[in-house]
Amino acid sequence: MQELLLAWYSQNGRDLPWRNTHDPYAILVSEVMLQQTQVSRVVPRYLAWLERWPDAAALAAATPAEVIEAWSGLGYNRRAVNLHRCAQAVSQRGGFPRDQAELRALPGIGPYTAAAIACFAFGDQVAAPDVNARRVLGRAFTDPDLLPPPDRAYEWNQALFDLGSGICIARRPRCELCPLAAGCPSAGMTFAPLRKQSRFEGSFRQRRSAVLKRLVASQRVAVAVLDDTEALDALVADGLAQVSGGVATLPG
Ligand code: ADE
Repeated sequence: MQELLLAWYSQNGRDLPWRNTHDPYAILVSEVMLQQTQVSRVVPRYLAWLERWPDAAALAAATPAEVIEAWSGLGYNRRAVNLHRCAQAVSQRGGFPRDQAELRALPGIGPYTAAAIACFAFGDQVAAPDVNARRVLGRAFTDPDLLPPPDRAYEWNQALFDLGSGICIARRPRCELCPLAAGCPSAGMTFAPLRKQSRFEGSFRQRRSAVLKRLVASQRVAVAVLDDTEALDALVADGLAQVSGGVATLPG
C-alpha cells in the first residue's frame, strides 16, 4: 500500500508552486494560506505574495495594514497578522530555526506547520499530516499516526495531501480514482459529517469580515457610523484594526 501511494504520486502528483522550493519562508506562506483555503484559490495568491514579499525581511518591513489588505479574500484574517508577526520574529533572529520545537514557538506556527516546514524545507523525515491527510491514513492504513516510509517523507506527505483533498474526501470518497482502493478497508464506504460546517452568512465571522472590508475600502471610518462595534472590538483584540480618537483604521 505504501509503495502504491508513492508510485501514484510520482505519476499523478500535482505540480504546485510550493513543491518547487525548499525555502522555509515560501513553505510557511503556502502552509498558512492552505489552512482553510482551497489549493486552486491559494496558487495565484501565493505567487503574488512571494513576488511582493520574497522573503521574511521584506514581509517584516511591511505595515500590518498592507499585509491585511493583501490577504483580503483569503479569509480567517488572523492568519495574516500571525504570518506578519512570524516574519518579524524570523528576521529579528536572523533566519528560521532549524528545530521543530523552536519553530512552534514562533507566532502562528503550530505543530502541523512546524512539521511541514521541517519536512518540506529542511528534509526532515517526519510526518506532517493535516486533517485531510490524517483522514486518509485512518481509512486506508487504519492508523492516522502512521510514519512515512524511510527517506520518502517529502513525497509521502505531499501524496497524502493530494489524496485527502481531491479523492479521499470527507463524506463521499471518490474510491474509483484512488490508487489504494483495492487494499483499503474503507473502500466504498460513505461517511456522515463529523460536524456540520457552520454557516458563514449571519455568523460573527461574517460580521467581522464585513467591518474589516469596510476598513480596507475606506481606510478611516468613524466609530460612530459603524453599527457593529462588537465586531470592531473583536478585530482590535486580534490586531486586525485599531481605534484612535473615535476613528477606526487598519493597524500600523
Ligand atoms: N495542504 C496543506 N499543505 C499542502 C501542500 N503542501 N500541498 C497541497 N495541499 C496542502
